[in-house]
Amino acid sequence: MWKSPVLATLLSLTVVGAQAQVAAPGRLLASNCFQCHGTNGKGPGFDSLAGKSSNEIYKDLKEFQSGKEGNGIMAKHAMAYTDAQLKLLSAWLSAQK
Ligand code: HEC
Repeated sequence: MWKSPVLATLLSLTVVGAQAQVAAPGRLLASNCFQCHGTNGKGPGFDSLAGKSSNEIYKDLKEFQSGKEGNGIMAKHAMAYTDAQLKLLSAWLSAQK
């Protein structure tokens, strides 16, 4: 049956592709920020995020989330994420040069 090896190859490629996408969950989560903070958080736009420390970004986001900080735009964005997601995307942004 000629299909089997081809199918097996296609299936394994699909699995590899899916793993590659999951490899950078921080980037996927942070992509929501690119419209205002620039692609990969590097501006132009509002404050550039790339290269800030992970803790600093996370702390800012938690303050925005609480509603005590900012003009409301960031509160709406920060609210949509769990703490674990904020940590992931903060870590990813901080690693961008
Ligand atoms: C609709 C535009 C918009 C989007 C989308 C957006 N931001 Fe912001 N962000 C702003 C604005 C405007 C400010 C300035 C603070 C304020 O006035 O609230 C800001 C400020 C910040 C700050 C503080 C920076 C500093 O130096 O003080 C951080 C950190 C931040 N944003 C992170 C993010 C992250 C992470 C995302 C994605 C989850 C995101 N932002 C998505 C508009 C946006």
